[in-house]
Amino acid sequence: MSSLTRFGGRLAVRLQSLTRPQVIVLIAVLAVVAGIWTAAATGHQGLATSLVAVLMLAVLLGILHLSRWMGGLHRANQAAHRDLRTVVEQMQRRVVATVEKERLTAGDRHQELHRTITKGLRQYGHGTDLLLRAQSREIEAMFQLFAEFTPRAPMPSSGDFALNPTELLDLLHLVRLRSPRLVVELGSGTSTVWLAYALEKTGGRLVSLDHDEEYASRTRDMLDAHGLTAVAEVRTAPLSDLSVDGKTYRWYDVEKLSDVRGIDLLLIDGPPAATGPDARFPAMHALESRLAPIATVVLDDANRPDEQDAVRRWLENVAGLSAEPRLLGRHAVLSYSRSGSRASAVPA
Ligand SMILES: C[S@@+](CC[C@H](N)C(=O)[O-])C[C@H]1O[C@@H](n2cnc3c(N)ncnc32)[C@H](O)[C@@H]1O
Repeated sequence: MSSLTRFGGRLAVRLQSLTRPQVIVLIAVLAVVAGIWTAAATGHQGLATSLVAVLMLAVLLGILHLSRWMGGLHRANQAAHRDLRTVVEQMQRRVVATVEKERLTAGDRHQELHRTITKGLRQYGHGTDLLLRAQSREIEAMFQLFAEFTPRAPMPSSGDFALNPTELLDLLHLVRLRSPRLVVELGSGTSTVWLAYALEKTGGRLVSLDHDEEYASRTRDMLDAHGLTAVAEVRTAPLSDLSVDGKTYRWYDVEKLSDVRGIDLLLIDGPPAATGPDARFPAMHALESRLAPIATVVLDDANRPDEQDAVRRWLENVAGLSAEPRLLGRHAVLSYSRSGSRASAVPA
């Protein structure tokens, strides 16, 4: 009894979930079945047979409809399957392309890194080679300097802020050849001591300017230690404003050289570049009138852009100034001949 109740309950639930067309079809089938049963019971065999035929036709149509519906479902399923396969294939292709691209990029990067490392190693080797050659040049120059002079006290270091041995050698060669009676140096230091030794031999005098009292005092102490104070003196000349062609520069106080006339050799190695742009450019403007009629001008660090520019402007604007061939070092040598003086008077 209870299983019949459960069956009834389940049937009721199923019936409630039917769609409207399904309910209509069910009612129609039930009506035909009821008609067949009633016709058979009342002896109307012909009607019962006709209703059975109608019922069978309806069942046949139902089966046809069902098979068409299932065919559509199958086709839709196949289309969905095809779409899914296309999407999967596209994704596979994309993944393969991305992996290939990354592989090629990694290969390129590897090659680039290899090239950079190879280039770096070559440059390093080249740089080391250049450094070694430069060092040997400086060592050779140092031997020649000490072969020429025997210092009476330890010599201060060369290089860095001071002139290199090659420049000192070239400078002292000029002093030996030209025997200047008066040398003015802008920027004191190691070069002051070497110049003083050279002038002691040739009978000249050196006035060195330094904008910094501390460095001026160190150089004075060195001159004192080497017994060269009779040949060379260091004057402290703080930087002050100097106007050249409408532009203001920081340059030595020119008053400190007010008693100086007839400079045979001018060595420009100051003020330091850190004091301002074109720091050494004003030298010719400030001191041309104090040069001897025939003089030599040496500018250190002539490989730097500011100094190259200064030399170019001096050669363009200072009458009687011309560039001389240089033997060694990174300085420029210029010869000066005031108009009316005979340039040939400058010894080789
Ligand atoms: C290029 S240095 C002059 C060097 C000098 N003619 C020589 O060859 O020894 C120019 C100025 O820099 C300053 N100076 C010298 N040695 C320095 C150093 N080690 N550090 C900073 N300034 C220095 C001094 O005031 C000097 O007058």
